[in-house]
Amino acid sequence: MRNLIDPWGVSCEIENYERLFTDFGISPFAEILPKIEDPHLYMRRGIIFGHRGYDVVLSAMNKKEDFAVISGFMPSGKVHIGNKMVMDEIIWHQRKGAAAFSCIADIESHSVRGIPYDRCKRIGVGEYILSLLALGFDLDRGFLYFQSENRRVQDLAIEAGTEVSLSEMSAIYGFSSDVKIAHMFSVLVQIADIMQPQHTDFGGPKPTVVPVGADQDPHIRLTRDVAARMRIFSIEKRTIEGRHYISVRLKKPEKDALDELASRLPYETRKYERHIDFDFEAGDGDIKEIERIVREVEIERGGYGFFLPSSTYHKFMRGLTGGKMSSSNPQSVIALTEPPEEAARKVKKALTGGRVTAEEQRKYGGEPAKCAVYELLMTHLIEDDAYMREIYEECKTGRKICRSCKELAAELMLKFLKTHQEERENAKERLREYDFGRKWLSYVV
Ligand code: TRP
Ligand code: SF4
Repeated sequence: MRNLIDPWGVSCEIENYERLFTDFGISPFAEILPKIEDPHLYMRRGIIFGHRGYDVVLSAMNKKEDFAVISGFMPSGKVHIGNKMVMDEIIWHQRKGAAAFSCIADIESHSVRGIPYDRCKRIGVGEYILSLLALGFDLDRGFLYFQSENRRVQDLAIEAGTEVSLSEMSAIYGFSSDVKIAHMFSVLVQIADIMQPQHTDFGGPKPTVVPVGADQDPHIRLTRDVAARMRIFSIEKRTIEGRHYISVRLKKPEKDALDELASRLPYETRKYERHIDFDFEAGDGDIKEIERIVREVEIERGGYGFFLPSSTYHKFMRGLTGGKMSSSNPQSVIALTEPPEEAARKVKKALTGGRVTAEEQRKYGGEPAKCAVYELLMTHLIEDDAYMREIYEECKTGRKICRSCKELAAELMLKFLKTHQEERENAKERLREYDFGRKWLSYVV
């Protein structure tokens, strides 16, 4: 089972998304979709198909409380339309009020792929950061960094490392005995990336969402486990013989912490050696207040008080030539930095769900579910749902021919890339004003 999801696999194809619900405990996104105001098209169209604990983020978002979004990019090759999905998701949450974080995972690239740091920096800025800004990431309300330049993240990685054993890592990632230690450490760094938005330097604990492709789920699960282990207290609701009560357990050797907590809680508590209990019949509103008080005591004692990080998962796009999309096969993917005319040519050559002859196409209709061109239109090029549905219907009923579809997609892609590349130029100006912006820009000239 563990080999089904491999974050460093060559193939990031997942054949059976249903299994992620049944075997891995990912929740269907469709369940919470109705609670989201103006959902992103990835959400509306089921491209984001799953989540863990997104309800917590959604509740903060809808109540205008603090929350954060964080995701990262491994700088290995050119930034492409698959990366654009994560960027769009970060930016969407930022516009919904999230404190937005994004990192260039150069420690991971260096440790796992052996890419020299100077190359990571060049690619990080010249490919990823400029595209992220061009797509709309707001530097005034966001935090961008390289893992290798962020001492806070590195320190958090070591703290996370005090809670993870070798056998646990091997069980999760299928590491064999020749795995390099730096590769394992890069997992801790990613955990730290995800925890950083909850650091006291950024205002402390808050719901945090990590938008990623489904291949990253092992990291998310591990981070959720480690975040819970790093807490000083754990809170549990219990019922015995119809009586409801709450039990707060002390998980770290913190002297007097339970007494301190008991004195702050507006409840009559029963004290035991490692936990305190109190009767509790009220609704959810109050449990949030209890959690807040518990976190407050934790922070005062130098603890973290982490919320379990949440995640959303999107499906991977298929490659233009069929098969998987991979930057090692340039024909299969569109880079955000390639000449727009070149990209348009690739779109025109892409695999469709069309039939062999025009006659068959009219008779049986096309197969949008197998069509890379349809997928491009749906994921990146057409915002209007009604228009998208029309294309689907026309294809299915054989009224549309692939050539017209490809021409439409090629033209929209050409336009998109032209604008995007102009925006990348403008982004340099904004980057110059950012903390490390000048230094980063010097990597690309
Ligand atoms: N491992 C991720 C990838 O390969 C990159 C990454 C680094 C990341 N830190 C992160 C993703 C934090 C999400 C959150 O794409
Ligand atoms: Fe794909 Fe369009 Fe052909 Fe249908 S008509 S198979 S959507 S290219």
